[in-house]
Amino acid sequence: MRTQVAIIGAGPAGLLLSHLLHLNGIESVVLESRSQADIEATIRAGVLEQGTMDILNNAGVGARMQAEGALHHGIELAFGGKRHRIDLTELTGKAITVYPQHEVIKDLVAARQAAQAQLLFEVSNVALHDTDTTKPSVSYVHRGEAARIEADFVIGCDGFHGVSRPAMPAPGRQDFERNYGCGWFGILVESAPSSEELIYAQHDRGFALISTRTPTVQRLYFQCDPADHVDNWSDDRIWAELHTRLENSDGWRVNEGRIFQKNIISLRSYVSTPMQAGRVFLAGDSAHIVPPTGAKGMNLAVSDVHLLAQGLEQFYGKGSEAGLQGYTAAALKRIWRAEYFSWWMTSLMHNFEDFTPFQRQMQRAELDFVVNSRAMATALAENYVGAF
Ligand code: FAD
Ligand code: DHB
Repeated sequence: MRTQVAIIGAGPAGLLLSHLLHLNGIESVVLESRSQADIEATIRAGVLEQGTMDILNNAGVGARMQAEGALHHGIELAFGGKRHRIDLTELTGKAITVYPQHEVIKDLVAARQAAQAQLLFEVSNVALHDTDTTKPSVSYVHRGEAARIEADFVIGCDGFHGVSRPAMPAPGRQDFERNYGCGWFGILVESAPSSEELIYAQHDRGFALISTRTPTVQRLYFQCDPADHVDNWSDDRIWAELHTRLENSDGWRVNEGRIFQKNIISLRSYVSTPMQAGRVFLAGDSAHIVPPTGAKGMNLAVSDVHLLAQGLEQFYGKGSEAGLQGYTAAALKRIWRAEYFSWWMTSLMHNFEDFTPFQRQMQRAELDFVVNSRAMATALAENYVGAF
């Protein structure tokens, strides 16, 4: 098979890129190792920046997000027994939308399938070839048959554990990494939201976060040992931990309900550069990871492919390689800013085992500074809404 752009991975990055290219008359094939049902049911991100919303709306895939997403004008920071509101809209003129990543995935899959896209699920043995030539190719197995796609470009949108990044040439490659030694325990709960806005809580027992999904489903997280196992946490133990970390004496309570999903993720920051080698490009989590505290991962995947689509449009439309050659530098500017903010929010809100008593005091002083200084609150708000 031959195509213009071969895309590995049908996460937000791969699906949106394929859709943006289609809108500009550029043909692509998307190879995904999981099933459609699986990608449409995997619970991950929830917070979309205005810029992400704009890109999805302009691409014609924002109708359901507009109708069902919840616009949030503020977030709360909880610490020392009090909650403090950061008014995102008053401070920045912008807001964020809570709309689950798997719903974005459903909208993108529906748009691609309506356009009869080449979107192949449950492929295996995906491998990149001839990556140092102008005719790269990708081999794979689909429905028991070995096949190969020859393309002008191969784009690795296959997440952190994919095959594309390891296939990039090692010389000149630089990896930056930080492991935080802590994890997030995430649950989905059948109950009305405990709060209209997200609450990020810092507590001596560790971080906790209240988010929402729908009027009848809550998304809650709390800091845990990344090596812990969900089976060690009975529902009662989870609720006890959340009540302790989130509540104070003002009478407000976290709403309990049936917990129908539990998972643990590990917090890390990671950037691999460059994001291009010849005709092979990386986008989204395949090139970089942020800890989830700043809610930036999916937003970065969207901004990466927005840039990459522009570069490919220039290449096919005007014969110019300028956009593609400038892709790594342009993408990294935003990525490093989001890496910084995610690292900062993580450091501000979590309880680290190796913290000295002095560092604990500094963390508390910084939280006080953020909620009592308009300048600091504005800095947080600008980063959170993605005004950079
Ligand atoms: P992925 O979504 O990982 O997609 C990669 C796809 O490639 C997958 O479907 C995978 O199956 C496929 N694949 C992998 N290997 C292969 C292969 N060899 N061949 C073919 N296909 C392959 N981000 C936010 O912006 N806001 C948030 O609020 C937020 N909260 C988060 C909360 C949690 C608990 C987690 C885990 C993440 C959160 N994120 C958030 C991050 C966000 O989910 C990711 O950054 C985003 O999914 C990245 O998209 P992607 O398309 O680059 O990669
Ligand atoms: C959600 C995830 C995040 O990482 C975050 O910072 C806020 C909300 C969520 O899943 O709703």
